[in-house]
Amino acid sequence: MSYDVVILGLGYVGLPLAQQAIRAGMSVLGFDIDENVVRSLGEGRSHVDDLSGTDVEKMLAGGFLPTSDEALIGQARTAVICVPTPLAEGDGPDLRAVLGATSAVGRNLRPGMLVVLESTTYPGTTDEEVRPRLEQLSGLTAGIDFHLAFSPERIDPGNEVFGAHNTPKVVGGYTPACTDRAEVFYSRFVETVVRTRSTREAETAKLLENTYRHVNIALVNEMARFCHELDIDLWDVIHAASTKPFGFQAFYPGPGVGGHCIPIDPNYLSHNVRSKLGYPFRFVELAQEINTTMPAYVARRAQNLLNADGQAVRGATVLLLGITYKANIADQRESPAAPLARQLASLGATVAYHDPHVTTWELDGVPVSRTDDLEGAAASADLVILVQNHREYDPDHLARIAKRFFDTRGVTTVREAHRL
Ligand SMILES: NC(=O)c1ccc[n+]([C@@H]2O[C@H](COP(=O)([O-])OP(=O)(O)OC[C@H]3O[C@@H](n4cnc5c(N)ncnc54)[C@H](O)[C@@H]3O)[C@@H](O)[C@H]2O)c1
Repeated sequence: MSYDVVILGLGYVGLPLAQQAIRAGMSVLGFDIDENVVRSLGEGRSHVDDLSGTDVEKMLAGGFLPTSDEALIGQARTAVICVPTPLAEGDGPDLRAVLGATSAVGRNLRPGMLVVLESTTYPGTTDEEVRPRLEQLSGLTAGIDFHLAFSPERIDPGNEVFGAHNTPKVVGGYTPACTDRAEVFYSRFVETVVRTRSTREAETAKLLENTYRHVNIALVNEMARFCHELDIDLWDVIHAASTKPFGFQAFYPGPGVGGHCIPIDPNYLSHNVRSKLGYPFRFVELAQEINTTMPAYVARRAQNLLNADGQAVRGATVLLLGITYKANIADQRESPAAPLARQLASLGATVAYHDPHVTTWELDGVPVSRTDDLEGAAASADLVILVQNHREYDPDHLARIAKRFFDTRGVTTVREAHRL
């Protein structure tokens, strides 16, 4: 059996990609080193937000084969690597999963194959880390015996408008022929393919996209602090500024940035600049400092709110609404709710949470008390903090029934609510 494509890493990025390729009539092999992931997919179960069990069953009916047997990789014409790129100790890139997957491809690489790296990483990874390892393990030469390219993932979990098929796909090849080959591959299931001069431009484009968000979120997070002191309603400011039909894009402050991309990816670039060129990428480092201290700032504001009514934060009950890193999804990676809860607990507060997407939440190995009784808990808590505005919530109603309500998302309109 030969496959059109093998996707390595069946997570938030790899699985929707596999689904899109199957929908385009491709024969798809899915390779993951986590045998539990492979088994549950094989049984028609999904572990990522954007795909249901029914979606996986349809993929299996469409010939999708999840496996942990790397020997099968050699039966595919194209290999796409979508494995995690977390941060290592010291905030540098952790390429172990990328190198592990690259080795699996290298050991099974055959002439004529196309290899694409999609994992977000620093410029030069494809040419300097992936290519030599593939060539050394296979004895083949990139650009001659096989094609190699980088194509950044642009998934936006929970986005109901843009998916893998209608989000323009950037591709940059090791050689122009590699770019041609990757363009042909992605054009089979993506409407628009955008070519870059080389793999480096494609790698850097992804980091620019996320650094752009990181820096602009930090801008309004810092403004939130001094606007509060100057008694300026920043939410009204942003609303007014966003009516400008050109030259402005609205970003919103909040309790901190979360998820797998925004808090992590800019580090890949700043680490690369510092290690290769010896000087800092100051924008990123400043934005990091501001965004990572937002949970502590929110905890201080919470303390001030209680104190204003003569209530000590020590012994106060604080209810957090929404603890995922983004609204309407279950993904909790790098969620600001965790450092916020830690800060509040260190001030002596008793923290509980409500979240329709999260059944259990542990902080440093200690379970955080959960409530299903949203109305009751909101009415009895000394302070309610809206951290994530899931669609299940009616913030104005909750602000009216709460003793004190702190809206960190600027979604309330009633005067009972305190806004970030
Ligand atoms: N999740 C997002 O919203 C998002 C968005 C854009 C870009 N990205 C990037 O996409 C990449 C993948 O992220 P994700 O969110 O899909 O990760 P994930 O953790 O959801 O899934 C990764 C999968 O890869 C598997 N894996 C790990 N090492 C492997 C190996 N050596 N061989 C095969 N499989 C292996 C894991 O078992 C896991 O199932 C990362 O670089 C990330 O930065 C993610």
